[in-house]
Amino acid sequence: MSIISLKSVVKRFGTHTILDELNLEVEEGEFLAIIGRSGEGKSVLLKHVVGLIQPDSGSVIVNGIDISDQNSDFMAPGQVNTCGYVFQFAALLDSLTVFENIGIFELENGLSPYKIRPIIVEKIKSVGLKEDILSKYPNELSGGMKKRVGLARTLMQSPKVIIYDEPTTGLDPISSNLIHDLMKKTHDERKITSIVISHNLDIFKYATQVAMLYKGKILYKGPAATIWDCDNPYIHQFIRGLAEGPLEQTV
Ligand SMILES: Nc1ncnc2c1ncn2[C@@H]1O[C@H](COP(=O)(O)OP(=O)(O)OP(=O)(O)O)[C@@H](O)[C@H]1O
Ligand SMILES: [Mg+2]
Repeated sequence: MSIISLKSVVKRFGTHTILDELNLEVEEGEFLAIIGRSGEGKSVLLKHVVGLIQPDSGSVIVNGIDISDQNSDFMAPGQVNTCGYVFQFAALLDSLTVFENIGIFELENGLSPYKIRPIIVEKIKSVGLKEDILSKYPNELSGGMKKRVGLARTLMQSPKVIIYDEPTTGLDPISSNLIHDLMKKTHDERKITSIVISHNLDIFKYATQVAMLYKGKILYKGPAATIWDCDNPYIHQFIRGLAEGPLEQTV
């Protein structure tokens, strides 16, 4: 069953068409890697899934509800937390401690720090960090630690779908692999659906499916296990980084 379904989605910024009658189905339990060149619209595409961007036309159906329909019950209990978005660079607030960043929504809603502490400790441990990090500020953390804290904050909402926007950008190869392992562990243990935008092709070892965005459309979607043998000429060129091929030559 599809947990996410985008049908004929069109999104323009000014005269620039970013998504052009785009269709995409994501099955429950899938681990989907989204690839495509910089500026193609990968982040714009996934921001539609969490309601951060509204389409000009078409529909965005998440967990059975059309969230692009103004009359839909998007904010209904059980619906609002369906998808969590782990932002590129984690998007932590520098003036708040790690504890306050992770518990930001709960604290804003008036829950006491004392009450949420056990939940926050469980989340910080599940992303591979120690409890003593909770009193630190984001500028005291490495890039990899910030990404883990960003994931811990997303886990607070217990989402059914986690969307990661370039989770390994700026990390060394070992830290990147550790983040990949963490995403896989989170996926398997929580039995969720995962969607990862990535330029790091090691993601194919973890993903079940790969989709490529090109010229506003999903040009290809297929299994990750056989992606290196894929005979689609666009995929062939892109994943090998070849200068020659059907993809438009832009810098
Ligand atoms: N809020 C916005 N207003 C106007 N234009 C935007 C907005 N958000 C994105 N764009 C434009 O949409 C296009 C796609 O941007 P997007 O960030 O989705 O690309 P991307 O595929 O995620 O690239 P990258 O791999 O570099 O992150 C770009 O041309 C960008 O300038
Ligand atoms: Mg992006």
